[in-house]
Amino acid sequence: MLRVENLRKTFTSEAGVVDAVDDVTFSIASGEFFTLLGPSGCGKSTTLRCVAGLETITSGMIEIDGEVVASDFRYMEANRRPISMVFQSYAIWPHMTVLGNVMFPLSTRGSGKRHRVGRKERRERGMEALKMVQLDHLADRDAPFLSGGQQQRVALARCLVAQPKLLLLDEPLSNLDAKLREEMRFEIKDLTGRLGISTIYVTHDQAEALSMSDQIAVMSAGKILQQGTSREIYLGPVSASVARIAGNVNILEGTLVDSAKSLGETEVLLASGKVFRCRMSETGVGEGKVEIMFRPELVTVRLGIEPELPVDSTSVNSLPARVSRIDFTGDHLKVHFKVGDGEIIAKLAPDLVLTKGDEVTLLIKAENCVAQ
Ligand SMILES: Nc1ncnc2c1ncn2[C@@H]1O[C@H](COP(=O)(O)OP(=O)(O)O)[C@@H](O)[C@H]1O
Ligand SMILES: [Mg+2]
Repeated sequence: MLRVENLRKTFTSEAGVVDAVDDVTFSIASGEFFTLLGPSGCGKSTTLRCVAGLETITSGMIEIDGEVVASDFRYMEANRRPISMVFQSYAIWPHMTVLGNVMFPLSTRGSGKRHRVGRKERRERGMEALKMVQLDHLADRDAPFLSGGQQQRVALARCLVAQPKLLLLDEPLSNLDAKLREEMRFEIKDLTGRLGISTIYVTHDQAEALSMSDQIAVMSAGKILQQGTSREIYLGPVSASVARIAGNVNILEGTLVDSAKSLGETEVLLASGKVFRCRMSETGVGEGKVEIMFRPELVTVRLGIEPELPVDSTSVNSLPARVSRIDFTGDHLKVHFKVGDGEIIAKLAPDLVLTKGDEVTLLIKAENCVAQ
């Protein structure tokens, strides 16, 4: 449905030259929900705007549904591309009704020739789009008299009414409160899934990306660091940067001992003298210094210090540790532990009783640790 190849976008201003998008390549299958995840300023919106035709590209190629829309030789105008876009600051026209807003892209003023349709059909398609977002009962209300979540749904309906092949969503939920944001995640995913519409979703919010996406591309400084499913990104990051962008992570440093221990497994010597068993990262591990990454919720705790087991006999790492800080957040217990090689954070069940200073053993399965 979409192919983006070696896309570059450079901005030149008085402040200097910015490589906003720096050699980005990805493609999206028909009906796929694809997310660009990364910190603010990493080039997500610029990538999306290049696909939409709101920016000219510096070099590379963009193809939508088999047609090249941007390359060194071609630039197709935004309103001729088969796409629709929702922005973070969804513009609802306050002087129109809800239905008026949704029908707008079908009116002569709202679009090129492509969508020009008669009055009756406009109304029908507008109502149909409102039904999709469950707002048909508010069709005749003035748009400003809607809640934030309802306004965002209107913006979505206005996108869907033009029956685009590709839907582009740029941080569409970031103006909503936390609870609504979670509900809307599900609604958007459900709606695009039912309609079978290909979607590019842009966000800096890892929970949004992980819960909604078929594929995630993790971006940093204009580049894609890793692309994969939510599971692949979250549980098998190829670098500490990816691991951090996708969530909270523990990182221990060590030296590679033996990378051929068993298929895909490796042993790392920590500074404390402890040998740690890990999975090798997908991109493989180099020589010498490595970083071991594992998620706080994959750490389990046994009270008391347990006798060391020989590392070969088990695929679970155990580390003696001492509780240094406890945050009770209600839905979980976030506990900081002091270990020989620094600090480890664990996300534990809230009914676990621990006190600062307690001595414990931390257990971390080798399969949940990635060395890079
Ligand atoms: N029109 C512009 N002129 C100059 N620099 C820009 C322009 N748009 C974006 N940038 C810069 O490009 C980089 C990427 O921006 P953007 O794509 O908006 O990031 P994101 O959406 O990931 O937060 C930033 O450094 C930003 O300052
Ligand atoms: Mg942005």
